[in-house]
Amino acid sequence: MKTLNLFDLERAAKEKLPQMAYDYFASGAWDEVTLRENRAAFERLKVHYRVLVDVSKRDLSVHLLGQKIPLPVIFAPTAFHKLAHPEGELATVRAAGKAGTVMVLSSLSTTPIEDVVRAATGPVWFQLYINKDRQFTRDLVARAEAAGCQALMLTADTPEWGRRERDVRNGFHLPQGLAAVNLLPSNQRGEAIGQSGAGMGQAFSWMLDASVTWPDVDWLASLTRLPVLVKGICRADDASRAIEHGAAGIVVSNHGARQMDTAPATIEVLPRCVEAVGGRVPVLLDGGVRRGLDVLKALALGATAVQIGRPVLWGLAADGQAGVESAIGLLRAELDLAMALAGCADIKTITSDLIGR
Ligand code: FNR
Ligand code: LAC
Repeated sequence: MKTLNLFDLERAAKEKLPQMAYDYFASGAWDEVTLRENRAAFERLKVHYRVLVDVSKRDLSVHLLGQKIPLPVIFAPTAFHKLAHPEGELATVRAAGKAGTVMVLSSLSTTPIEDVVRAATGPVWFQLYINKDRQFTRDLVARAEAAGCQALMLTADTPEWGRRERDVRNGFHLPQGLAAVNLLPSNQRGEAIGQSGAGMGQAFSWMLDASVTWPDVDWLASLTRLPVLVKGICRADDASRAIEHGAAGIVVSNHGARQMDTAPATIEVLPRCVEAVGGRVPVLLDGGVRRGLDVLKALALGATAVQIGRPVLWGLAADGQAGVESAIGLLRAELDLAMALAGCADIKTITSDLIGR
C-alpha cells in the first residue's frame, strides 16, 4: 500500500515493530482520553479560507530562536530511537538535517549526544529533566553545550512518569544491548537501566525529581549560555511564570497524552497561552499534529512552530532515515497545499481569522 499520509506511515511501522515497542510509542496515560482528544480537537476546528489571493509562490519558512528553518515543524524529543530502528537517533538527525529542521534530542536517547551532533547537518537541541542529583544535571548540561547543542528544552510535566497501562501489561523494558546511554556514567546500575520490565514508572523513576519548582528553571538557565525552553505547559499562568523564570520559549504540550490523562488538547489551550506570552518568546505546540492542516491551525492560533513526536518514530520504524524524511516531506507537502487553499502565501498571513476568530 502507498504511504499517502502519516496514518499510513503508522500502519507500516506497526507491521514492523514488536508489540511491546509499538505500544510504548503509541500509548497514552490511563484511559487515553487526552490521546484521542489531541486529534479530535484539531479535527473540530474549521478553516475559514480566503479566496482570490495570489498563492502562486509560497514560502513556508519561519524564524525560531534566531534561526531560519524552511518549515514550521521540528522534531519533538522522543526516547529510545533504536527501539524503532537499529540506526536510531543517527537516522533521525540525518533526516532532520536533510529537511533543514531542528531535532530535539531526548535525554533518553540510545545514541550518545556527541555522536548525534557529529552526524547532524542542522541544529540539535537537547531535552532534559532536572535530576534529583543536581550535579548530574549540571554535567549533562555542560556535556550538551560542549557537544554543540543549540538550545535546551526542560520537560516540566514529569514529576513522576504517567501510567501507561499498555507498558505495564507488556512489562515494557529495553531489549538487551539498548540503553539510555547519556545517563549511564553517573549511574552505578549501568546497563541494567531500563531493563527491569515494569514500564517507565519503575525503570526510570530515579532520574526524575518530584520536588522541582520554578526557581529550578532560573537555576537551569543560570548554568548555561544556551536558551532554555520549558515544555509541558497547558495553562496561561504557567506560560507567564515560565518567562518570569528565564524561559526563552515555551512548548504547549501534554507530553503526547502520556502524563496527565484528561488534560485538555493542546490546540485548545494554545490561544490562552499565546495571549499570556504576548509575543515575548516563541510558543511551540505539540500533540496530535498529523496533517499539514493541523500545522496551519496551530500557527493560526499563535504558535511559532509545531513539534511532531510519534510521526518521526513511525517513519523511523517503517524505513529508517528515508522513513523519517517521508514523514516530514508528507507534512510539508500538506502544509504547502493547505496554505494555498487557505489563501496564505507565507507564514505571517496564517492568522487567527482563519479559525473564525
Ligand atoms: C515522548 N515525549 C517525550 N518528551 C520529552 O520531553 N522527553 C522524552 O524523552 C520523550 N519521550 C517520548 C517518547 C515517546 C514514545 C513519545 C510518544 C513521546 C513527548 C514528545 O516530546 C511530545 O510531547 C509528544 O510526542 C507530542 O505528541 P505526538 O506528536 O506524539 O502526538
Ligand atoms: C516517555 C518519556 C521518555 O514519554 O518522556 O516515555
